[in-house]
Amino acid sequence: MADTDASRRGRLEYSGKHILAPMVRMGTLPFRSLCLDYGADIVYSEEIVDIKFLQSKRTVNTALNTVDYTIPKELIFRTHPCEHSSVVLQIGTSNSDQAVQVARMVENDIAGLDINMGCPKDYSVRGGMGAALLKTPDVAEDILRRIRAEFKKPLTCKIRLFHNMQDSVNFAKRMEATGIEAIAVHGRTKEERPSHKNNSAAIRAIAQAVSIPVIANGGSSDIRCYNDLEKFRLECGASSVMVARSVQTNPSIFRREGLLSREQMISDFLRKSIDFDIPFRNAKYGVQHLFGDTSTEFGQTFLATRDYPDMCEVFGFEDYYAQKHVSTPEKDRLVVEKKSCSLKRDREEDIVVEEVDYNPISKKLKKALNTFTPKSILLEHCKKHSIAPAQYSFTSTGKTFCGSVLVMGKTFISTVPHRTKKDAEQAATVVALRHIMPEFSL
Ligand code: FNR
Repeated sequence: MADTDASRRGRLEYSGKHILAPMVRMGTLPFRSLCLDYGADIVYSEEIVDIKFLQSKRTVNTALNTVDYTIPKELIFRTHPCEHSSVVLQIGTSNSDQAVQVARMVENDIAGLDINMGCPKDYSVRGGMGAALLKTPDVAEDILRRIRAEFKKPLTCKIRLFHNMQDSVNFAKRMEATGIEAIAVHGRTKEERPSHKNNSAAIRAIAQAVSIPVIANGGSSDIRCYNDLEKFRLECGASSVMVARSVQTNPSIFRREGLLSREQMISDFLRKSIDFDIPFRNAKYGVQHLFGDTSTEFGQTFLATRDYPDMCEVFGFEDYYAQKHVSTPEKDRLVVEKKSCSLKRDREEDIVVEEVDYNPISKKLKKALNTFTPKSILLEHCKKHSIAPAQYSFTSTGKTFCGSVLVMGKTFISTVPHRTKKDAEQAATVVALRHIMPEFSL
């Protein structure tokens, strides 16, 4: 299906395409680039939550020829010219102001933007994002309309099904009316798991009801090779096919020429992970999925690896790694992993963003802190060291709050939405305590 260069150079189109689905942790630059090499037409990034993106800093990484969005010690999004006309950034949002800001920020670095309206995870739904948007169509519509009014590149959304087919169709039609270019439909409801059968008939009904391309998703259980992509598309009566789980373990499904060996795919992926200098944990996660059965002695040796040199040795990439690593200047290397070097960096940065959910840890925390709360500990610390009291602020994501605290000239943020401002404050304070008072292993 790949129209190759012609369509890749032009504006993104969503008909007749084989698409890498958004996948947290997997959908980073090396894997996206690998899928493009193997024949994917469009590659979606992993979902990135709007507030995290808004806290990030954009830099041009001249050594890697990439554009990087980073927050201290974390790479949020890295993109390279090889995917410039094929990469779709997926964001998680429930707030049109924030979504528009992200769209503005990133417009020149991506080929398209997607809004996640299907994620069933509690973390997303509690913040009014992902599948929660299926229940708040006014909010979903507002997000798409507001972005559409400003954003010049193609815009899509990815949804799950409602229990009633007509509700799915109605929702898709409402989203279509906002002016989006295409809609990706995962043929399961929010409650259904991958073991449930994908509902191709519902995808077909949506495809028949709207005029924009429908991207069929959810068919991984039956997609084992290139020809299965087309079978699934036809079964759903859709314009394009989007695949997640089956290409996570075998991206060569995108190859018209046929499947590749695991060894080949691991080599290709590892080389790209080193080239694009992604965090070791992402590289290992990717290799692990490509590896398959890790119960063998070789698999166990791989699982025991703790850093790039270790892992590269296992796969015979030590020379390649050494050569690449040395040729990348320190300042352009990853902001993660180099924990021993991070102290200096920490002092230079003024924002620390982490995902801290105060609720599940609060009991343990309270016990450990002997009835003190993170806020009261920070207050005491400030008094004791004559530091100006902390200042708290919030970002609202629908009916929830993300907290941030400014103390000692640094802002500490927790990106996890909380139902109350009080909990959001405590979550942000936990982030601050971790950095200011390292004795707290919270
Ligand atoms: C996902 N999925 C997903 N969906 C999404 O919209 N944003 C995301 O960030 C993620 N992350 C993610 C990670 C991993 C590891 C998996 C397996 C899945 C859901 C995915 O895009 C897709 O909708 C489903 O997996 C169904 O498609 P397949 O797997 O049947 O092709």
